[in-house]
Amino acid sequence: MRRTLQSFSLNLAGRLGAFACALVMMAALAPAASAAAASQSDASAPTVLITGSNRGIGLGLARQYAKLGWNVIATARHPDAAEDLKNLAAEYPRISLETLDVTDQASIDVVAEKYRDTPIDVVINNAGILGKLEDQVLGSFNHETFEKVLAVNTIGPMRVAEAFLDHVRASDQKKIITVTSGFGSIALAKHVGGFYYYRISKAAVNMAMSIMQSDLRKEGVIVGLVSPGRVQTELMKSSGGSGTITPDESALGMIDIIEGLSLENSSAMINYDGEILPW
Ligand SMILES: NC(=O)c1ccc[n+]([C@@H]2O[C@H](COP(=O)([O-])OP(=O)(O)OC[C@H]3O[C@@H](n4cnc5c(N)ncnc54)[C@H](OP(=O)(O)O)[C@@H]3O)[C@@H](O)[C@H]2O)c1
Repeated sequence: MRRTLQSFSLNLAGRLGAFACALVMMAALAPAASAAAASQSDASAPTVLITGSNRGIGLGLARQYAKLGWNVIATARHPDAAEDLKNLAAEYPRISLETLDVTDQASIDVVAEKYRDTPIDVVINNAGILGKLEDQVLGSFNHETFEKVLAVNTIGPMRVAEAFLDHVRASDQKKIITVTSGFGSIALAKHVGGFYYYRISKAAVNMAMSIMQSDLRKEGVIVGLVSPGRVQTELMKSSGGSGTITPDESALGMIDIIEGLSLENSSAMINYDGEILPW
């Protein structure tokens, strides 16, 4: 088992009335529904929902799950403007595009309601932000940035997990997965400073999901934390670091890990290559 600090640091080298109601609902869903109009889900295939699937790791996950024949509910803040995702959906008709901002409860609830009768085997909390780096430097903290980072990286996954819990409960695989980061490791904090808000937000979501695993264990729902490695994405670039793998390589590794998750091994932070990362 490899346990090098480099493998889980983001940037170690460089530091890193019913009818009316229905009409209102239809109007709210209109842009996403048009994007998803061509989608043809297959009730016999498993279903995954991914947040932040318009680029980076989320897009890689959508592509790899689609290649495996899954139904993919690919959510993004602005799916109509997501050219790469729209092209992918044109290639794989089992991809449905939906509008979802993880900081906006109403947008989450609209999607949850639309799929009320659809079992979702795997929900993946992928959406994440780094937050302005200059605001998370000791001596020039700007805690407004902290609030924004927490809203996306910590509270967002809790909102999404709660909203789609019944869909997961109704599924065969019953998995809620959060894309975390080795940068949320408290063990690593002994060795590397900086990136306060991002790292705190990931440590906090690790705790939230660990608690959720305890709450849901008796129901057979698996709550997992998977780290994607150092991936060539916008987020990595804005950290000042460089990725060593592509989003698709990371996605393939994570899908493998997610596939192997069970109630027996879910209480860990697992890297895309199978390495167990220290808390
Ligand atoms: N890259 C790495 O090496 C690395 C390492 C460890 C962990 N991670 C984690 O991996 C996940 C994906 O990151 P990435 O590297 O693929 O970064 P990325 O390319 O910057 O993509 C981030 C994604 O999150 C979405 N997003 C941001 N705010 C959102 C919101 N409020 N609601 C819904 N979606 C939102 C973005 O959508 P917009 O285009 O609309 O902004 C985008 O789709 C994150 O959780 C990140 O912390 C990445």
